[in-house]
Parts: sequence; structure tokens; C-alpha cells
Amino acid sequence: MKKIGIFYGSSVGNTRFVAEKLNDLISDAELNPVEQASKSDIEKYDFLILGTSTWGVGNLQDDFETFVDTLLETDLKGKQVAIFGLGDQFTYPDTFCNGMGKLYELIKDKGCFFKGEWPVDEYDFSESLAVVNGSFVGLALDEDNEPDLTDYRLSNWVNKLEIK
Ligand SMILES: Cc1cc2nc3c(=O)[nH]c(=O)nc-3n(C[C@H](O)[C@H](O)[C@H](O)COP(=O)(O)O)c2cc1C
Repeated sequence: MKKIGIFYGSSVGNTRFVAEKLNDLISDAELNPVEQASKSDIEKYDFLILGTSTWGVGNLQDDFETFVDTLLETDLKGKQVAIFGLGDQFTYPDTFCNGMGKLYELIKDKGCFFKGEWPVDEYDFSESLAVVNGSFVGLALDEDNEPDLTDYRLSNWVNKLEIK
């Protein structure tokens, strides 16, 4: 049985809200706010689900920015990793979900296996660091403009992850 850990950073609660929904959708997953997470918390999981919003102009969420150092000190070899990101495509169309893209860029050569890339078709933005080879590197969510699509996107994404 795989051990699944959801790690999230959230400034005003949107990513936390989504992380809690994910936790309900994935039985046996455990929820970890990144501001309390240590290296040993990361090490105990086989499957990491990492969620960050984007702040400033295209930056990682503050707590996640700090947590990235811990993540980079941890041996991620062989772990499965899926990323989700929250952003606002209408106010920040040139940096939509850049935090998710920055996170991917930082850990992509750490020997983990990425799952859960996601099509860009249903979104309306100009540029995003989270788009690699024509797809988002993980699930992009927009609680500011499209909260009604979140449940549908989450359940499809979780199915795609084929966690079991
Ligand atoms: C000051 C500010 C800057 C933001 N910058 C970006 C951005 O560059 N790109 C983006 O996609 N969203 C941006 N957002 C939108 C947030 O990422 C979005 O509201 C998100 O849902 C917040 O999630 P959280 O409460 O989990 O931190 C910004 C929001 C604020 C208030």
C-alpha cells in the first residue's frame, strides 16, 4: 500500500480548501500544511501531492517558498509526485500558476516520477511557467474565477493519477 502525503502552502485559504477536498477524495492520504512539515515528514511517503498558489508576480506561495529548501534537502528518488497549483488567470494572465511551474523546475531533476499533467484547453491565459510541452505540469485551479469547475477538475485529476 502506497503512503500518500498531500503538502500544501496557502495564504488566504484557497489551496488549503482544495487540499482538504483532495484529502477527502483520496482515501488514506494525509494532509500536511508545509509550514509544519520536516524532511522526515516528506521521507515517509511514496507518493507526494504538492500544492502551491502563486503570489507577487509569479512567485511561489510564501510558506511553500521556505518549504522548497526542505524538499530539496530530501532524497526524492523513486517517489511519485503530482503537483497542483492555484492562480487567477484573468488578473494574472501572464503568470498564471507560475508557482506550480517554478516548483516543477526546482524538483524535476531529483529523480522522482511526475504524474498528473493537465491540458491547457479549458483556460484563458497568455503565459505560464507551468506549461511544459503544451500541457500544465500538474492541475491548474482558479478559485477566483472558476470555483464551480474545481470539483470536476479535481475528481478527473485524481482518476488520472492512478494512485492505487
Ligand atoms: C497580490 C496577489 C498576487 C497574485 N499573483 C498571482 C500570479 O502572479 N499568478 C496567478 O496565477 N495568481 C496570482 N494570484 C492569485 C492567487 O494565487 C489566488 O488567489 C489563489 O487562489 C490564492 O490561494 P491561497 O489562498 O491558497 O494562497 C495573486 C493574488 C494576489 C492577491
